[in-house]
Amino acid sequence: MNVLILGSGGREHAFAWKIAQSKKLENLYIAPGNAGTAHCGTNVNISATDFEAVKALVWEKGIDMVLVGPEDPLVKGIHDYFLQDEVLKDIPVIGPKKDGAQLEGSKDFSKQFMIKHGVPTAAYQSFTKANVEEGKKFLETLKPPFVLKASGLAAGKGVLIIDDINEAKKELENMLLDAKFGDASSTVVIEEFLHGIELSVFVLTDGKSYKILPAAKDYKRIGEGDTGLNTGGMGAVSPVPFADEAFIKKVEEKVVIPTINGLRKENIDYRGFIFIGLMNNNGEPSVIEYNCRMGDPETEVVIPRIKSDFLDLLEGVATQTLDKKSFETVNETATTVVIVSGGYPEDYEKNKVVTGIDSNEGSHVFHSGTKQDGDKVLTSGGRVFAITSFGTSIQDAVNKSFKNAEKITFDKKYYRKDIGKDLMNWGK
Ligand code: AMP
Ligand code: GLY
Repeated sequence: MNVLILGSGGREHAFAWKIAQSKKLENLYIAPGNAGTAHCGTNVNISATDFEAVKALVWEKGIDMVLVGPEDPLVKGIHDYFLQDEVLKDIPVIGPKKDGAQLEGSKDFSKQFMIKHGVPTAAYQSFTKANVEEGKKFLETLKPPFVLKASGLAAGKGVLIIDDINEAKKELENMLLDAKFGDASSTVVIEEFLHGIELSVFVLTDGKSYKILPAAKDYKRIGEGDTGLNTGGMGAVSPVPFADEAFIKKVEEKVVIPTINGLRKENIDYRGFIFIGLMNNNGEPSVIEYNCRMGDPETEVVIPRIKSDFLDLLEGVATQTLDKKSFETVNETATTVVIVSGGYPEDYEKNKVVTGIDSNEGSHVFHSGTKQDGDKVLTSGGRVFAITSFGTSIQDAVNKSFKNAEKITFDKKYYRKDIGKDLMNWGK
């Protein structure tokens, strides 16, 4: 098979690395890719949201399957674009159509979906500028902290958690009346604050059956001890000690099955990944959000833990034969430590020369934001690398990641040195 992966992050490098190991692969292309994906296949410098350019590439290279990494092309309808095109309609796209991508693209839609299909989630109401005052009254009925969410895609910044009621009311006005997050906040979801500990569960589905992939815990804040600004994710651990078999079983029964059945009832033919952001409150799961893609950096620990041929699984999604595919995972613990550019998630500099990538031992270096410039690798993003390691324990794995993260150098590099620390003595 000739496969095209769309995207340019660590998630796409992990996909490319895994697919490159498949016996079913002939040629692999990544658009636009990064300096790391270039070692797994051929990078093509086009944007994942330039559908015309994607079409030309698919045609020129005889692509048999397209795997979409990020949410943007999915929410913008790349899968629908393929289905409506005479030339492309029979080429499978892994990732939902616009209707399914709403699970991530519209929080208002996803909350309605959860309530309708009995998926446990925080109580909520949605507001627009037509009923701001009702929104303020609704806030008064809740206990702090107050959770305000822009309904649309806001690059991971659209969620505000506020302790003070007056500040919450002010921010509600900012979002609805002053377009704080642009169009994304023309509808705002206000919901009950959930207590507990968070994790991510990933499901691969062909619309009929599903496989639950390894769960992971992400570290979202920039600072050690979970302090400072939110980022795309600074590290991840899989498996998650507080998500034992009994808990995952509960997630399957209370969340995964109602979600898959709900999609079918709504006539949404969903073929791709569902990323379920969950709160575990004393062993009871509650859904914080859905995403219509894999997580980053979670993919960099989830994919290495899949033993089976990943391309074979994706083929199962495309042909709706996922239930016939073997699915095995690796029991060892995987950790990833993300190296970022100083300043991230605010302003940071790019084009710093990277050294030491080749001197790592015992880890996989996934590139998140790099580009090749002649024989040099330069930084090109806030998150630059995800260093993934296996170990017999979280401590063992993460120590390898830290050791190799130390060897990679570029000006103003930063990484958190406490990834996994909160989980090391879990249950002991
Ligand atoms: P989301 O984009 O919906 O995942 O929200 C971003 C982050 O805000 C989540 O990962 C949680 O840490 C936090 N969060 C969102 N909703 C809630 C909630 N209802 N209760 C507590 N924390 C929340
Ligand atoms: N790491 C969180 C995400 O991919 O949304």
